[in-house]
Parts: sequence; C-alpha cells; structure tokens
Amino acid sequence: MPDGGLPSVLDVKDLKTVFRTRRGEIHAVNNVSFHLEAGELLGVVGESGSGKSVTMMSLIGLLPMPPAEVRNGRVMFEGQDLLACNEDQLRAVRGARIGFVFQDPMTSLNPVFNVGFQIIEPLRKHMGLSKSRARARAVELLELVGIPDAARRLGDYPHQFSGGMRQRVMIAIALACDPKVLIADEPTTALDVTIQAQILELVKELRQKLGMAIVWITHDLGVIAGIADRVMVMYGGQVVEQGPVRELFANPKHPYTRMLLETVPSVTGERAERLQVIDGQPPMLAQSPDSCPFRARCPLAFERCEQENPKRVPVGPGHDAACFWDVDAGAPRDV
Ligand SMILES: Nc1ncnc2c1ncn2[C@@H]1O[C@H](COP(=O)(O)OP(=O)(O)O)[C@@H](O)[C@H]1O
Ligand SMILES: [Mg+2]
Repeated sequence: MPDGGLPSVLDVKDLKTVFRTRRGEIHAVNNVSFHLEAGELLGVVGESGSGKSVTMMSLIGLLPMPPAEVRNGRVMFEGQDLLACNEDQLRAVRGARIGFVFQDPMTSLNPVFNVGFQIIEPLRKHMGLSKSRARARAVELLELVGIPDAARRLGDYPHQFSGGMRQRVMIAIALACDPKVLIADEPTTALDVTIQAQILELVKELRQKLGMAIVWITHDLGVIAGIADRVMVMYGGQVVEQGPVRELFANPKHPYTRMLLETVPSVTGERAERLQVIDGQPPMLAQSPDSCPFRARCPLAFERCEQENPKRVPVGPGHDAACFWDVDAGAPRDV
C-alpha cells in the first residue's frame, strides 16, 4: 500500500512461492508484500538464501515450474495482475516494461551472439523498430551506459568485454525498451570495488535521466545506504522490516536489521550485550512458516515468537517491522 501518496508502479501482495522437493516443501517466499513508487529506488537487502531472487523471479514468471509453485499473491503492474498473465503476456512485460539485470552477465548474455544483436533483437521484437533504427538506438544505448567507441563495439562478443563493461551492456539491454521498472539482482557483487562504484554512479545518473523505478537487490547494506530511497529487509523468505532509508538506518526496529547495521541497540543491559553477538545458521526454509523465522538466532526471542509468525506493524513514518518485541519499550509489543 503506498504511504507517500504517490501511485505505485508495482504492487505486490501476499506473494507465496514454494519449491516442491523430494524432501518436502521449501517455503522460499512467504507472504511477501511491497510496492514500488514511480521513480523510486527500493533497496532489498538480506543474507544469501533469504528469498530475494525468488521473490523477483516469481513476479515476472522466471522460475522453473515445477519445482517452483507460486501459491498465492497478486502482482499489479500497469493495470494487470502479472500472476494471472499467460506466458505470451509475460514475455511482453519481461525485458520490455520491466527490465532486469542479474549478477552474472556471462550467464545472461548469450556467448554466441555479438552484443549488437542482443540489444537490437528486443528492440525489434518489443518496439517494432526497423533494423537500421534499432541499430542506431543500440549505439545510443551503449553510449548512454558509458561504453566508448559504441558503434564499433556492437560487433563484439560478450567475452571481448571486461566484467564491468559486460555489466554495462546488460544494463543497456535492460533499458532498451524504456522500462518502467528495472530490477537489478546483485548486479555488482562479482565486480571489484572501484568498478562497483562506477556502476552505482551510472545507475544513479540513468535514473535521473530516464526516471524509471528501480529494485536494487544486494546483501550489502552499505551499497543500499548510498543509493536507495527506501529499504526492505528480508529474512527467511519474509519481509522483516521496511522503511525510508534514513529512518531505517537511524531507527532500526527488527533485531535482524540491527544485526545487519551492527549498531548498539537502545535497550540497555544484558539484552543489548547479547544482541551484538547473534550467531547461528540461516533459517531452515523447510520448516513451516508459523513461527518467527529469526527466532533461533534472535537474542530477544520469547515464547510468542515460537508460537506465531509476527505480522508487519507500523513502527515509524512509512516504516514497519515484523517483530513481537518492542525494542524501544524493552517489552513485548502490544499487538
Ligand atoms: N531451484 C530450487 N529448488 C529448491 N529450492 C530453491 C531453488 N531455488 C531457490 N530455492 C530456495 O529458495 C531460497 C531462497 O533463495 P533465493 O531467493 O535465491 O535467495 P537470495 O536471492 O536471497 O540469496 C533458498 O534458500 C533455497 O532454499
Ligand atoms: Mg539471489
């Protein structure tokens, strides 16, 4: 639900995705809800295996089904529910109205085609451009993402580009059809720090120029701090906290967010001491999600966290968290 009054370009409600495996069901995404406002940059953060990628892939029909099954949810985008769309309708959205960039361009780019072809193809297919107009646009796009000597490089193959340049090519492809939403799934993780910073700078610039909304997925809260308007924290297939970036960094309410931020919590005494040394394994997503996914690693967990899975409740302006413990009061929350 939008709280800033701006219309949502993407509205995800109660998304639930499971994987059926021989050893039972994996609850990879459990009742995830979020929205994206026009032009905003939403950072999605959480450790590996928390359901970030599966959430985004569920939206645009990119999961192998089976073993995946999207069991519940609604994903409103441009007046239609993407979960109710057939494959043809989804194809028209994917890579056109919603662009995406993944971590490893070597697996997303096709090694047997030159990059020109890989940019021109979607332009012809989705935008109906003629060959020569698509080619001109492809040059423009490579220039836009800062690839020198763009016209000549259209004929080059993915392996002829450096890691950072390949990521720029991926961004050019994702932006080719002027998407309303760009989903970037850990796009800089494999790059060295200097190149990462350059890509982040590029994306900031592009957003200003083109005005699309962006979902930026990372396990690194530091990356988010510099670019996001709003942050959504995921743990164990769920959203555990969400809020405007400054608010969330200044007033984190979920013990897991606090752990990520490594801040000394406002509660004093023994609990505070223990909060800094949370240890343990990521949650077993095979367990049924009827208790708090973080309870096993949470120093503040009490009985109720075992018996029920906390719902997200408002904890500040545009800010909510899914926790039964009120860290400010140092007492269980009255919900
Ligand atoms: N093909 C698959 N088969 C079974 N389980 C899967 C599959 N892909 C992902 N999962 C499960 O979904 C969970 C969430 O994965 P993912 O969304 O990729 O995490 P993240 O992107 O946050 O690192 C994983 O912990 C894993 O258990
Ligand atoms: Mg991932």
